[in-house]
Order: sequence, then C-alpha cells, then structure tokens
Amino acid sequence: MKDLEALRVTLLADIAQAGDLAALDQVRVAALGKKGVVTAQMKGLRDLDGEARKAAGVALNALKDELAAALDARKSDLDGAAVEARLAREHVDITLPGRLPPEGRVHPVSQVLDEIIAIFGDMGFSIAEGPDIEDDFHNFEALNIPPEHPARQEHDTFYFAPDENGERRLLRTHTSPVQVRSMQAQGAPLRIISPGRTYRCDSDQTHTPMFHQVEGLVIDKQTHMGHLKGCLADFVSAFFEVGDVPMRFRPSYFPFTSPSAEVDIGCTRKDGTLSIGGDGSNWLEILGCGMVHEKVLVNCGIDPTVYQGFAFGIGIDRLAMLKYGIADLRGFFDADLRWLRHYGFAALDLPTLPAGLAR
Ligand code: DAH
Repeated sequence: MKDLEALRVTLLADIAQAGDLAALDQVRVAALGKKGVVTAQMKGLRDLDGEARKAAGVALNALKDELAAALDARKSDLDGAAVEARLAREHVDITLPGRLPPEGRVHPVSQVLDEIIAIFGDMGFSIAEGPDIEDDFHNFEALNIPPEHPARQEHDTFYFAPDENGERRLLRTHTSPVQVRSMQAQGAPLRIISPGRTYRCDSDQTHTPMFHQVEGLVIDKQTHMGHLKGCLADFVSAFFEVGDVPMRFRPSYFPFTSPSAEVDIGCTRKDGTLSIGGDGSNWLEILGCGMVHEKVLVNCGIDPTVYQGFAFGIGIDRLAMLKYGIADLRGFFDADLRWLRHYGFAALDLPTLPAGLAR
C-alpha cells in the first residue's frame, strides 16, 4: 500500500506538470495504458488472495478513478489554455485606423497613354521606342528635312554643345525619328506606335517645352490614304468613346509625308474648361499624318516600288486636355498636388477596351 501511495503522488504530479495535451496523453498511457504501471498492479492482484486481494482491488480502483478524474481536469485546463492562446494570437484590434487608399494618382498623360496603347494594341500595332537625345540624321535628315529646310525653324530645337566633330546632338522635336529607327531595324512590313517625350522651345496655354507624342507607322504592300483615314477615325471614336466626334482632315504639309494632312477635333472652350463637340467654330489640332514620303522609305532602306505606308504623330497632352476637360496644358507639368489629386486617376484603373477606357 505504501507503494501505491508513492505511485499516486508521482502520477498526480506528472499529470499536474504535463505542459500540453500530447504530454498529458503520455502520462495517461504510462499509467493506465495496456502496459501502464497501474494496469500492471491490477494484473498483480491475481497473485494475492482473500482479504488482501479485496483491499488492494478497492485501493487500486480508487486510484484509477482519481487518476482518470485528474487527467480529465488537466485536459480541460489545457484545452482552455490552448483556446486562450489562440484567441490572444488571433486578436484583432478593431480600434486601429483602417487601411487608407493609396495616396498616389495616375497622371492624365500616363492614363491617356495606356488608353492609346490599349486601342492601337487591339488593332495589331506593337510598341517601338527610341532615345530622347537624337542626332540630326534621325530627327531631320532621314525624314527629308535637309539643313536649310524651312521646317527646321518650326521645330525650335534644343541643341547640345557641338562634339569634337562639330556635330550637335539635340532633344528630339518629335517622335518621328522612331519611324526611321524602326524601319532601319525591322524593315517592311511594319505596324508600330511609338509613344514618348518630345521637346521644343515653346511655351503658352497649349504648348510646353516638353510634351508627349505618339508616332504611328504602317508599312505594307497595299496601304493607302483610305486605310490611314479609317485607322484614325476608328482611333478617335474609340478614344473619346462617342460615335460622332466632330473631326476634320485638313490638307497640310510635312516634308516626310505626301500627301499630308492635319486632323482637328471640334471643341468648345467655356469657363476655363474644354469639351468635345460644339458648333464647328472651335477646333483643336490633335495630329499630323500622311503617306510616308518615297525619299524617307529610301533613306531607311525600304524599296518604295514594293512598299508604301502611312504615318501619324498624335499630341498626347492635347488628347488628355480634350478628353478630360483640362484647359491649360502648363498645369500638366507643374507637379501641383492639388492638380494631380483633381485630375489624376486611381492607380488600379487600368484602361482596357472591354471594360471601358476610363471611369
Ligand atoms: N512629326 C510631326 C510633328 O511633330 C507630326 C507628324 C506629322 C508625324 C505627320 C507624322 C506624320 O508621322 O506623318 O509635328
């Protein structure tokens, strides 16, 4: 019996010290399992006789009951502790401030650029890029603008200091040099757009020294003015998301196209805002275009007896002004946070044709 009391004290202590449910189960098995110490004692009853066996049986059963009760009690303690620990771990402080929407906005130029890419991408155009710092050949010569050509004056070019060979590099005055680079690199047929920054020494309500253009170029065996007109008309109605945008093709002149045209969009200026449409008395020029000049094809290594093509250069900032009713171009580049918050777009509003371009 003394043994039994010692066993009782040890087992109760083991139960009390079991730190988790797995440890507790080990104690249970060691005591009451098939090979447990208490079970062994029960088996030992066989060897006793008479009164001794009866007394030992009663004591052992009492011990078993006590241990079972202690195991149960400890188990529910541990269960409770596990729940408490989990509650503490997964605690949410609902008094913390909510997550704020992202601070930044997408600039209207970036937004319009994404819209333009979505539209021309859908028409099968791929994107080409060229450097902002150009040389005379790509910006002028190859585009049929020789040194004394009057068109050079219109470009108000920013020149760098001449290098050791006396050559002056320049900030590209239009995205048209990317036409040259693409034809040289890829040959014909070709269907690209090239968006990017362009620079001219000019500043007023509708001009800034840095502005954005997107160049378009299609070269193939049977391209004509009808394709050019259809392509731009489709673009304009997709971009403005209305079917009847007043649009006019005006005959014009560019050294690198023949024939050439400029495209204007009918608009109304009222109370400091600009909107599409109107009575035909107000027009904003948005692009120049034409059939690529033979000489340009030759300069870029393309045989003009086999291939022809059309090209266009669109003013991206102008499009943004018209579509989003922004009357003064200069605000685009002032980095004024109030302006950006007002005219900017939500960061995750990626324009796609099926979902609508801008919301
Ligand atoms: N590069 C011209 C400009 O900046 C725009 C332009 C006109 C581009 C006609 C073209 C074009 O590709 O065919 O004024």
